[in-house]
Formats: sequence, structure tokens, C-alpha cells
Amino acid sequence: MVTKFMLVKENFKPRHDDVILVTNPKSSTTWLKALAFAIVNRSSFESIDASHHPLLTQNPQHLVPFVGAQGGNLDYLETLPSPRLLTTHLPLSLLPSTVTTMGCRIIYLCREPKDAFISRWHFDNKIAQGAKINIDTTFTMFLEGCSPFGPFWDHYLQYWKESLQRPRDVLFLRYEEIVFDPLKVVRDLAGFIGVPFTEEEVKSGVDQEVVRLCSFKALSDLDINRNGGVERAEGKIFIAYSVLFRQGKTGDWVNHMSKDMGEKLDQLVEDKFKGSGLKL
Ligand code: A3P
Repeated sequence: MVTKFMLVKENFKPRHDDVILVTNPKSSTTWLKALAFAIVNRSSFESIDASHHPLLTQNPQHLVPFVGAQGGNLDYLETLPSPRLLTTHLPLSLLPSTVTTMGCRIIYLCREPKDAFISRWHFDNKIAQGAKINIDTTFTMFLEGCSPFGPFWDHYLQYWKESLQRPRDVLFLRYEEIVFDPLKVVRDLAGFIGVPFTEEEVKSGVDQEVVRLCSFKALSDLDINRNGGVERAEGKIFIAYSVLFRQGKTGDWVNHMSKDMGEKLDQLVEDKFKGSGLKL
């Protein structure tokens, strides 16, 4: 069966100066989009915390176009001026090979799988309109790699290997390292994208403002993210933006998964990542 995601490979036309943010769902796509958007567009706003900054009135998901949501119809992406800031959940194997041969810059963000799984389970429950999603059933499916974007381990490994082969073009990040030192990551991101913070900017704290503006507290307190939302599946599903901001912490899996489940997933990760050098 050809899914709308598979049409992207044929119809998406990468440009050499594209910056593509890639995440496996629930790795904090929202945060990465906010950070990258704030970094790239900082010169458009006199002060990064100016009251008219788009991040104050729009959810980050809407500020960076998603490659894959439109299926085969990618005309909208063609209308965007270069350099484009884009995002996708697609594995590398479902993107056109020109993404790598043309040297588009890819920023990949992954997350510790137990936390990513729990975040997903909460999200699915919130949008399930009253239906209760059984954690054991979804966990079994997660272990079997059932996901529209393929098994999470393949997703992580494809981009990990690409980042080893082409470190100038592929930046591999972990959610946990942004939580640990957001300022360092913000500076690294700016350098990688090709718009490093100048000495002047660092002196006046522009990089710290990006961190503050995109922090969990700042974003989740905004009216748009507390009360807004978006319809999906032709109006059948309403996703409140607040569900994209649940806790924003690491290690919450212990509050929802048994020790046995945790060990099973750790073992799977160890087996799948063996020999790759990837550590989470
Ligand atoms: P939790 O459910 O563990 O809280 P995505 O954006 O890919 O849908 O991922 C959502 C996860 O990212 C949620 O995790 C959410 O809380 C977290 N997140 C969103 N914005 C964040 C931010 N600014 N800082 C830290 N975590 C954030």
C-alpha cells in the first residue's frame, strides 16, 4: 500500500540550502521548531522578546512547515522562499536521496525511548476522545516497531549513521542534552545552521533570550498554547495545543511503566544499537 508519506520521496524537491528538522514523534518536535525558528528569524525582530514575535501568538508547530502532512501535494513548499526551514517525522529512507546528495542540513532530534513511549501514550489518550488506550497493548506494538514512520530504532539509526558520515550536514541531538544545557544547544544550532551568534549578540544575551522564549514554561503559559488547538482528520480530531506541553521532563517513564517493561525496552535498545556507537 502506498501511504501519503511514501509520495514525499517522489514529490518533495529539496533545495541545497534547506534546513530540515527531523524527529521521531514525541521527541519534542515543538521545542526544536521553536528554537530553530527563533534562531533563524532573530534579526527580523528588534528584540527577540518583542511583543509581536510570532512564537507569542502561534504554536511552534505552525511556524515550520511539515514535510509529509500534505502527502503527494507539496506545492505549498515550492512557494516558500529560500532558505527554507522545514520539518518532518519521515525516516531518511522515505526522503528523496537528493536530500543527502545536495547537502541539505538536517537537524535530528531523538529522545530516550521509554520517555518517548510514555509521552506518546499520554498524547494518544488525550486525543482519543474518551477511549482508553491500553498501555500494555501499545507497548507491545512499540516493541514490534509499529509506527507510521517505521520502528523507532531504524529511524534513530538511519540518521545516526548519516551524522557520522556527514557531520557537517547532519547534526544529531538528544532531547536530554537540550534539557541539560539548552544554551549550549542553542549556540550549537545557530552555528550548525550557519547563523552563529555574534560576540555582540552574546554580550547582549540574545542567545539566552532564545532559550527563555522557547522554554517549556514560557511557551506553555501562552494563551495560544493554553487555549488554542487545531483540527485534524477532516475535523474528526481536535488537538489542543496544551497536549503538546505535558511535563517537559526526563525520566517520567518510571511513573507509568513497570520495571519489567523498562528492562524489556532497554534490552531491545541495547540489541538494536549494538555496534553502532549510538548511546542514549
Ligand atoms: P512529555 O509528554 O514527556 O511532557 P512533540 O513536540 O514531538 O509532540 O513532543 C512532545 C513532548 O515534548 C512532550 O513531552 C512535551 O512536554 C515536550 N516539550 C514540548 N515543548 C517543550 C519545551 N519547550 N521544553 C521541554 N519539553 C518540551
